[in-house]
Amino acid sequence: MRCATAVALLATVMSVSVVLHAGAHRPLVKLPRAAALHKTDTWPPTPQATGAANLTAILTLDGPFRTFLGYLQQTNLVEVFQNQASLTDQGIIIFVPVDKAFAAVKPSVLSGLSSLQLKNLMMCHSLAKHYELADFEGLSRIGPVTTFAGGLCTVNVTYDAGTVHVRSRWADAKIVGSVSVEAPMAIYELDRVLLPATLFRAASRPSR
Ligand SMILES: *[C@@H]1O[C@H](CO)[C@@H](O)[C@H](O)[C@H]1NC(C)=O
Ligand SMILES: *[C@@H]1O[C@H](CO)[C@@H](O)[C@H](O)[C@H]1NC(C)=O
Repeated sequence: MRCATAVALLATVMSVSVVLHAGAHRPLVKLPRAAALHKTDTWPPTPQATGAANLTAILTLDGPFRTFLGYLQQTNLVEVFQNQASLTDQGIIIFVPVDKAFAAVKPSVLSGLSSLQLKNLMMCHSLAKHYELADFEGLSRIGPVTTFAGGLCTVNVTYDAGTVHVRSRWADAKIVGSVSVEAPMAIYELDRVLLPATLFRAASRPSR
């Protein structure tokens, strides 16, 4: 089981790098609908969930994302993100740092945040619009991108030779895999937690 998961994960990482390297050429590979449904493992879908896959189920089943999911639940953002995907025509992108990324942040840094700050930090990991992977190249040219946290957190997306980085003041995170790319809810895997200047000052520099 563990082994199968690792193989699946490797395949995901490999396929995203293939997609990224092919990024200059349209059309990009899109997951067929059936694959997206299979990933959620919830059939039949409940009426509210018809437009988008089940975020909780995806983060539970598809990777080392327990820490991020835990914080989303703690800050009541699962439904907010899910609704952004299902009830708006904008969709959503969620950048999910892997568990190891959270482990690399000093424990006092995250535990020192108020619940509102923690919520803003989680929202900093999301864009209130679905972009295709190919759009990241364009995003990298427009400068700071406003996240779901609005003015409290902007990130710079950079696209360089097939590698996409998402940068905040104290973190340079790289997209290391794609969990789901299809609209309305795309989920990408980051190797670092985004740490915006509005939440963290130089004095309490959060990385180890
Ligand atoms: C989403 O999945 C979770 C965990 O599998 C489940 O508890 C929840 O009821 C599902 N939500 C919807 C709207 O299907
Ligand atoms: C984002 O890019 C702008 C220039 O477009 C730069 O001024 C700013 O420092 C960058 N921010 C980060 C966190 O890299």
